[in-house]
Amino acid sequence: MSQLSDKDQYVKNLFNSIAGNYDMMNLVMTWGMLPRWQKFMLNKTELKSGDIALDVCCGTGELAIKMREMVGNQGKIWGLDFSEKMLEVAQAKVKNLGYNNVNFIKGDALKLPFEDNTFTVVTNGFALRNVVDISKAILEMTRVVKPGGRVVCLEVSRPFNPILRLGFNLYFFKIVPIIGRLVDKGKAIDNKYPAYTWLPESLKNFPDQEKLKAIFWAAGLEQVKYFGLGGGAVTVHVGKKG
Ligand SMILES: C[S@@+](CC[C@H](N)C(=O)[O-])C[C@H]1O[C@@H](n2cnc3c(N)ncnc32)[C@H](O)[C@@H]1O
Repeated sequence: MSQLSDKDQYVKNLFNSIAGNYDMMNLVMTWGMLPRWQKFMLNKTELKSGDIALDVCCGTGELAIKMREMVGNQGKIWGLDFSEKMLEVAQAKVKNLGYNNVNFIKGDALKLPFEDNTFTVVTNGFALRNVVDISKAILEMTRVVKPGGRVVCLEVSRPFNPILRLGFNLYFFKIVPIIGRLVDKGKAIDNKYPAYTWLPESLKNFPDQEKLKAIFWAAGLEQVKYFGLGGGAVTVHVGKKG
């Protein structure tokens, strides 16, 4: 992997530091709704037996493993991430499950080590907020998906409804860092934000649902749609390569 930018290095160190508690914290912070959101997102992939798919920024491998269940023994799943510790957790899960057609590799979402037009589906869960160049990340996902294939992303978003938005802002920006203290202990990473302060920070300059949709179109994807879940607290964007 080439030299990482300061933000990439910070993000990588952050996820290395919380990898062991990541799955549990995700479930707690989403009030147990995460599996339902993942299921919705994965339905949008329309993956079927024998397909080959890539989960970019796969973290602890949750989506990759669920995709393996969709493609079965005949299919193949790849998961890519730059955090060694997150990948270790992912690898251990797959070993436990005895899956031999799920491959995790270390790499950069902005420079995917795959040929053009390789995958039926390329996904990304809760990671676009973390990359230094969102357009480039979507462009790379689009490049490696086959014509007719889908790019599907699940990401945190702000509800459109003003009352829900108020509740979301209170929860995400004020309460999440407090819950996160249980894990990050308020410890600064690279002299920057503690892990669970970064979580809300990363949403501050993140494009809203319409802008992200425009980024999908600009990357060359077609039939781009998005679906709000949890009152709009998360959104699934789907685009098809022509
Ligand atoms: C919030 S976690 C999401 C993990 C998983 N996709 C999920 O749904 O739970 C973000 C992940 O993105 C990874 N990541 C961020 N930027 C990356 C990049 N440029 N290349 C590869 N991985 C990256 C981090 O290491 C981390 O594992």
